[in-house]
Amino acid sequence: MPNAYISGIGGYVPPDVVSNDELAKRYGIDTTHEWIHQRTGIEERRYAAEGVGSGEMGYYAAKKALENAQMSIRDIDMIIFATLSPDIHFPGTGCLMQRRFTELFEGDMPRYVPALDIRNQCSGFLYGLAIGAGMVQAGTAKHVLLVGSETHSAALDMTTRGRTVTSLFGDGAGAAIISATDDPKRGLRKWQLGADGRGAEALCMRVWDITKRPFIDTPNGRDGVGVIPPEIMWPQMDGKQVFRNAVEKMCMSLMGVCFELGLSAEDIDLFVFHQANMRINQYVANSLGIPENKLIHNIHKYGNTTAATIPLLLWEAVETGRLKPGMKVAMSAFGAGYTWGAAVIDW
Ligand SMILES: CC(C)(COP(=O)(O)OP(=O)(O)OC[C@H]1O[C@@H](n2cnc3c(N)ncnc32)[C@H](O)[C@@H]1OP(=O)(O)O)[C@@H](O)C(=O)NCCC(=O)NCCS
Repeated sequence: MPNAYISGIGGYVPPDVVSNDELAKRYGIDTTHEWIHQRTGIEERRYAAEGVGSGEMGYYAAKKALENAQMSIRDIDMIIFATLSPDIHFPGTGCLMQRRFTELFEGDMPRYVPALDIRNQCSGFLYGLAIGAGMVQAGTAKHVLLVGSETHSAALDMTTRGRTVTSLFGDGAGAAIISATDDPKRGLRKWQLGADGRGAEALCMRVWDITKRPFIDTPNGRDGVGVIPPEIMWPQMDGKQVFRNAVEKMCMSLMGVCFELGLSAEDIDLFVFHQANMRINQYVANSLGIPENKLIHNIHKYGNTTAATIPLLLWEAVETGRLKPGMKVAMSAFGAGYTWGAAVIDW
């Protein structure tokens, strides 16, 4: 059985920087830099321009990952696209991104690379990693392109009413190539995933509800013209519940994978945590005795970029020389669903 390792990594963030102060200035939200920074560690985030979606940003990140792996899209056997902000309801954004690679369809030998969308929110990258690595280890794919991409800014309540959720999220994309190798020193060593659907309403967006007739509930007008109430239109969150569960499940899954591998914090060179709130990550690190110098962060500049967060962190760590082959990396994430996971890779 081949090992599955990450042969290439890439990322993309849109150029528009929105500071905490600008949430107040640009959108008129009653908030302050101090409130947001003290509670979350966020200083600024990026917003995609109107017309740009998760498929396009995912494409930019994927191109960088392919370049980093010195590969062409024609080398890829499978695309996995993780997002909670798909371009349209269907088809999946993986297909919409795939068709941007026009070189797949040129010449006499088109490459109809399959494209799978997954909906696992902030744990999307780790769920995708488990699926992609499984395909590589089973020998059914040699190279899998895994993308996490999010356009939150289009679907946030940019008013004081929505400030708690709105201040947390930003846009961006990250991508990784999962490849087969015979090198025993490299590869994904263990992963652990979990879900608890009982927490679904603690963080959700219900604007598409197929149990309703029509699927977008318009209580003020049943003739197809109505007003969607804000609690249906925008994401809703019970922040305290999410916080508690994030700390508990990130610790649990991280301890789980390390226990199965017989590893302690000293054996890990780099911890890559999902970035939802700096305080969540500090709790996890303190509980598990992880020193600050083994952690990397990007929450201060990007906020929570959901499925894009972990590949963006890995990309920047590689670019800055912080992450090098031979290092042991532990990752952990928690998100809506609830869903969570952890994994250890020998980079
Ligand atoms: C979001 C979070 C920072 C909010 O912190 P909190 O201490 O729970 O704050 P609360 O929601 O109780 O709000 C406290 C007060 O601050 C106000 N407030 C909320 N957001 C604000 C903002 N951006 N600016 C200013 N005030 C704000 C609230 O309206 C509330 O005011 P009130 O007491 O007058 O009603 C925190 O709950 C959290 O980080 N939870 C986890 C979220 C998360 O990780 N989500 C993604 C998971 S992948």
